[in-house]
Amino acid sequence: MASALKISRLLSRSSFSSISRGGNGYLGATLSKYSTASAVEEPIKPGVEVEHTQLLIDGNFVDAASGKTFPTLDPRTGEVIAHVAEGNSEDVNRAVAAARKAFDEGPWPKMTAYERQRIMLRAADLIEKHNDDIAALETWDNGKTYEQSAQIEIPMLVRLFRYYAGWADKIHGLTIPADGPHHVQTLHEPIGVAGQIIPWNFPLLMFAWKVGPALACGNTIVLKTAEQTPLSALYVAKLLHEAGLPSGVLNVVSGFGPTAGAALASHMDVDKLAFTGSTDTGKAVLELAARSNLKPVTLELGGKSPFIVCEDADIDQAVELAHFALFFNQGQCCCAGSRTFVHERIYDEFVHKAKARAAKRAVGDPFKGGIEQGPQIDSDQFEKILKYIRSGVQNGATLETGGDRLGDKGFYIQPTVFSNVQDDMVIAKEEIFGPVQTILKFKDLREVIQRANNTRYGLAAGIFTKDIDTANTLTRALKVGTVWVNCFDTFDAAIPFGGYKMSGQGREKGEYSLKNYLQVKAVVTPLKNPAWL
Ligand code: NAI
Ligand code: MG
Repeated sequence: MASALKISRLLSRSSFSSISRGGNGYLGATLSKYSTASAVEEPIKPGVEVEHTQLLIDGNFVDAASGKTFPTLDPRTGEVIAHVAEGNSEDVNRAVAAARKAFDEGPWPKMTAYERQRIMLRAADLIEKHNDDIAALETWDNGKTYEQSAQIEIPMLVRLFRYYAGWADKIHGLTIPADGPHHVQTLHEPIGVAGQIIPWNFPLLMFAWKVGPALACGNTIVLKTAEQTPLSALYVAKLLHEAGLPSGVLNVVSGFGPTAGAALASHMDVDKLAFTGSTDTGKAVLELAARSNLKPVTLELGGKSPFIVCEDADIDQAVELAHFALFFNQGQCCCAGSRTFVHERIYDEFVHKAKARAAKRAVGDPFKGGIEQGPQIDSDQFEKILKYIRSGVQNGATLETGGDRLGDKGFYIQPTVFSNVQDDMVIAKEEIFGPVQTILKFKDLREVIQRANNTRYGLAAGIFTKDIDTANTLTRALKVGTVWVNCFDTFDAAIPFGGYKMSGQGREKGEYSLKNYLQVKAVVTPLKNPAWL
């Protein structure tokens, strides 16, 4: 096992001011003391080794059937971290066969729920023990800050596993008073083999949101990681096996969407599909599922979430929270507060302060203490974001700060703020998925409700106000799956998450996610002597 990465070596704890944690969720940022965006220097060594690059099928690390590999890159430099086995349809077939066998013949669905719970709890303990190594691997492969990985995301992964372990022995059916002399009950049974396709922005959180409930319900899994971030899931899946997960229950296939991903979505022996990613790819996998065996599909897709700052808001706090809502995780959040609506009476002051806050955002090597923003995930996303920035300028929005790449190596982008943004501009309509804040002006509540809802997305919204009536009105009027009032990105394993409209179908996390992984069987038995009862 690689030597543990010493947090103290990398972090100056006193300087950790960018994100304040609340319980196991995360809350809005506090003011940072870093005054200028730092230049990008020589990359810091991650302090962890890459141990697993093969596919994990039936409890063993194996090469792809084709023998092919693909490189996974360090977003700080664009250099290769490791070559990873490239799974294709043949590998997906092997993985599904292993998961099928583990479901039909293996101990996992049959063991007592208490035993399943104990394995999941042991896994959570092991993940916690390896927190720093996993965090380093995640930061290296993804570019998010080490502080975020080590202090927020891996602890949330642990929390997710403990939460769903807690559910394992509390899943049960009902006894139903039907009209007639019958004993009627429902059995809640696992669906079978779950296919899960995850993105690169929160690789391990997406892993946990999907694997946690599927395991608690007694299913077996084939998980396809994103091609940009294959490393951390392999590491964590190995720990699950060390905790006692039987072979074949969790299979991990690295590879690309149109090959491995499509093979999983269209597989006749996959009983359920869960997907997180872009709306377009969500449509494609839904179609593949429908065309093959009609497997039920859970989709968690894109967003263009409004963050509404009302006229009674404390402006400094609102600026900080709106900044956090957009820039967190390099702006690569499905629920990013990417349309900042500000009341006209405080608009100018807000823009002035939002610009100043973005201009002093600490951008640099994500392994360095105090850094708030690392590089974007890859060159595709980097180019896409720069293109959106150019379109904002061309469409006449005011570029307040940023607007270009940072440094000449890797995928760093300057924190960017646009004011005078109009609803019909491309930057106000499409998901940018980068560090680009767009600030729009509104006059009254009716108008902002209409404009906030005028999008094909409906993932989340933020509201900033001291007025309970305003909060209640907005909360109920907004067509979104999550409303954060005077907070943003406050997540917990127990809180459901998902989208209205084209932001998705179904809910993940919390109790709501269990039904994605359960079948309900109604059992009806005639009562022999109803008159006696
Ligand atoms: P994507 O939706 O294409 O990829 C997400 C996952 O789907 C990856 O594992 C990928 O390999 C897989 N995939 C791709 N094509 C597939 C297919 N035909 N069949 C089955 N699986 C397939 O997203 P991508 O290209 O990484 O990013 C594009 C945009 O999507 C981003 O700019 C962002 O706007 C959005 N996005 C949204 C995310 C969210 O959290 N909702 C996460 C990542 C991206
Ligand atoms: Mg990578």
